[in-house]
Amino acid sequence: MKRRIGILTSGGDCPGLNATIRGVARACYERFGDDVEIVGIHDGYSGLINNQCREMQRSDFSGILTQGGTIFGTKRTPFKMMKVVEEDNVDKVKAMKATYKKQNLDCLLTLGGNGTHKTANLLSEEGLNVIGLPKTIDNDIWGTSVTFGFHTAVDIATDVIDRLHTTANSHGRILVAEIMGNKAGWLTLYSGIAGGADIIVIPEIPYDIDKLADACLKRAQEGKGFSIMAVAEGAFDVEEAKLKKKERARLRAEAGITTATSRIAKQIEQKTGCETRVCVPGHMLRGGSPSAYDRVLATKFGVHAAELISQDKYGYAVAMVDDVVTENKLSDVAGKTKFVPADDQMVKTAKDIGISFGD
Ligand code: F6P
Repeated sequence: MKRRIGILTSGGDCPGLNATIRGVARACYERFGDDVEIVGIHDGYSGLINNQCREMQRSDFSGILTQGGTIFGTKRTPFKMMKVVEEDNVDKVKAMKATYKKQNLDCLLTLGGNGTHKTANLLSEEGLNVIGLPKTIDNDIWGTSVTFGFHTAVDIATDVIDRLHTTANSHGRILVAEIMGNKAGWLTLYSGIAGGADIIVIPEIPYDIDKLADACLKRAQEGKGFSIMAVAEGAFDVEEAKLKKKERARLRAEAGITTATSRIAKQIEQKTGCETRVCVPGHMLRGGSPSAYDRVLATKFGVHAAELISQDKYGYAVAMVDDVVTENKLSDVAGKTKFVPADDQMVKTAKDIGISFGD
């Protein structure tokens, strides 16, 4: 039985996309031999909408294990716009189904984060054979303990925090590292602990600025001339926590606040009298080669996707549960976010060694 498999990468990129693509491809060639054809879809769902596809050869998957980014390119095509017909008059869902048919695909693999999984579920409901693979540095996909890309980003963010220690120490400053992660605090929590941050601020635990300042002052009283804060980009304080997202954004815009980090740094400097600097590693956290951990994880996930294809098991998202690679229904994953529970063991671990969360 011949199988034609379409693969796309959607949303923000991360290290490990190519390693996953390679894992799927190699496992498929191993299983199905000449009975498999792989079609690379460019720039995520945008390529599926516009029929931008490329017939792949075995050799295309060689030498990509260590490569950052994605050989297929990626784009953000928001889920909320999928059913909206815009100026170009294109019915996106219809167009994606048409490409699937035109390309004669038997199934579609979508490598992406939360938004990608929502659209994958939509296409699955529309009758396409879809398998999702969990990618994101944010580690916020429901139903999987880990996503590929996350641990590489943890390693990079940890290195950033490590390096801030020496310069903070030399100058006797407070250094505030802004860590990506969207609305979830996983990346900040892990890299904050690994990097030895004194204070960790995550969206799941709204902060009280006075408590953050007290933590810095306490260190100063103990003779420590500097402090390191790891702050999640999505952090907000206890007052903002009472507000709806839109209201929060409006008030921030009115106050000319660009990020939580810059506001925290400014307030901390005022309250402690200690010179404070902000460091934003930004997209560096998503760049470059995947770590050894992510290469292994990506390969395991890719192989599992090939296994699902061999069973014609569609409408699922690959996942890690209790250290075993498995799958969840796309309909269960779509529309949910995995946040850090306030009583998470990692939070407790951090608190037990004296790290302040400002709560
Ligand atoms: O979802 C991954 C992520 O890097 C988030 O951590 C971050 O908020 C966002 O993407 C940045 O998006 P963009 O690459 O579109 O600026």
